Amino acid sequence: MDKFVIEGPTPLQGTIPISGSKNAALPLMAAAILGDSPTTITNIPKLRDIYTFNNVIRVTGCRVEFNEDEGILTIDPKNLNHYEAPYELVRKMRASFYMLGALLGKYGEAKVSLPGGCAWGPRPVDLHLDGMRAMGANIELEEGYVIANAPKELEGGTFTLEPSSVGATVNLVLAAVLRAKEFTIKNAAKEPDVVLLCEKLAEMGADIEGIGTRTLTIRKVDSLQGISARNASDRIETGTFMIAAAMHPQSNITLTNVDVDDLGHFPETFRKIGAEMNINGDSIHIKAPDHITPTSIKTKVYPGFPTDLQAQWATMMTQANGESKVTDTIYDDRFSYVPELVRLGADIDVKKNTAHISGKTKLKGASVMSTDLRASVSLVLAGMVAEGETDVLRIYHLDRGYEDLEEKLTNVGANITRAEQKE
Ligand code: UD1
Repeated sequence: MDKFVIEGPTPLQGTIPISGSKNAALPLMAAAILGDSPTTITNIPKLRDIYTFNNVIRVTGCRVEFNEDEGILTIDPKNLNHYEAPYELVRKMRASFYMLGALLGKYGEAKVSLPGGCAWGPRPVDLHLDGMRAMGANIELEEGYVIANAPKELEGGTFTLEPSSVGATVNLVLAAVLRAKEFTIKNAAKEPDVVLLCEKLAEMGADIEGIGTRTLTIRKVDSLQGISARNASDRIETGTFMIAAAMHPQSNITLTNVDVDDLGHFPETFRKIGAEMNINGDSIHIKAPDHITPTSIKTKVYPGFPTDLQAQWATMMTQANGESKVTDTIYDDRFSYVPELVRLGADIDVKKNTAHISGKTKLKGASVMSTDLRASVSLVLAGMVAEGETDVLRIYHLDRGYEDLEEKLTNVGANITRAEQKE
């Protein structure tokens, strides 16, 4: 197992290229198996979750080729002949559950392991299953697996997502495009990942009305063709580095290859902390403020503040001059990073789903433990402004979702080395 050893504090200066988005890529990869010919996707990051999903897709007999140097992935669904996503793979990554919609949609049959919980608590899939039932599919649970069956054509109907869910919207769209006569999803997610999926399915030949709105109506088509698609840039990585750039008063960073339109209200919120921010085409330049203005946030569905950036924001707020609050309304107990930040010297108190942060606190290096992807990157952000050495243990979480993290940060002045973590 690896750890990061970080020497701080260091200002960050230079350019960071943003990688392709993991969360946008996975639905596109699942969509590729719906085609009758190969799909090629560019801007794919080299991340553990992508390799895992490649293997999930390979189990079905599809050919998957990943040109890592170019970030180009080709999926050829021609030889798909096995309709299962096994537990050994699904447990490694929840998004493998998208195979349920994809396989049910394409072949009318699927056996997909139920995903487990997450470090921050249970993450249900009831809406995925109820939505497919509402479409007319037969869904049974057997020994930890979902067994799904559907005839050639399902009647469809209307299903309302309450709450709005990214994962359920993706799965229901994948299931419906080749199989449901007419299926309407109300309160559908309209996160950029969902919009991109629907746009690319439409390019493949799908009939989807209402793309980019909260009501999607899908009418079955007989077949879909493979396409060439560009994966979106990672909006969460963008936000993470914007926050990194603001945390040290001498930092000055340019982010390139950004999909600015996918950031929702985040840039507006970010401006409130007092940083200078210039957006120019697909790059964003950030100059850190001398003093960070305390700014409270609440996570919301897109275009609101993303739950995947709340831990990083709370970390930045430990360096703001005053009190702020970070509330997660999507996942109530996503605060496992707090005790670790407190070990570094932060003053944070969690009450219900809100972290109350008192800044500015001087952070001092210590050993801290990663608990999940976004929690881990927050500890790296803290380590880069903490005095002395911070060891971030169990960084395998980071390898799931941040491409070349230490290289990107080292290139702009951080002092981070990867070392073996002895148990
Ligand atoms: C959420 C985020 C997504 C982020 C991901 C990983 C939102 C809306 N979604 O997606 O941007 O990338 O975490 O950190 O911010 N739910 C159910 N039943 C279901 C499915 C979901 O009750 O079958 C609930 C969830 O518990 C949650 C809410 O709906 O409270 C949103 O779910 P969803 O968007 O699917 O969550 P993720 O896909 O985990």
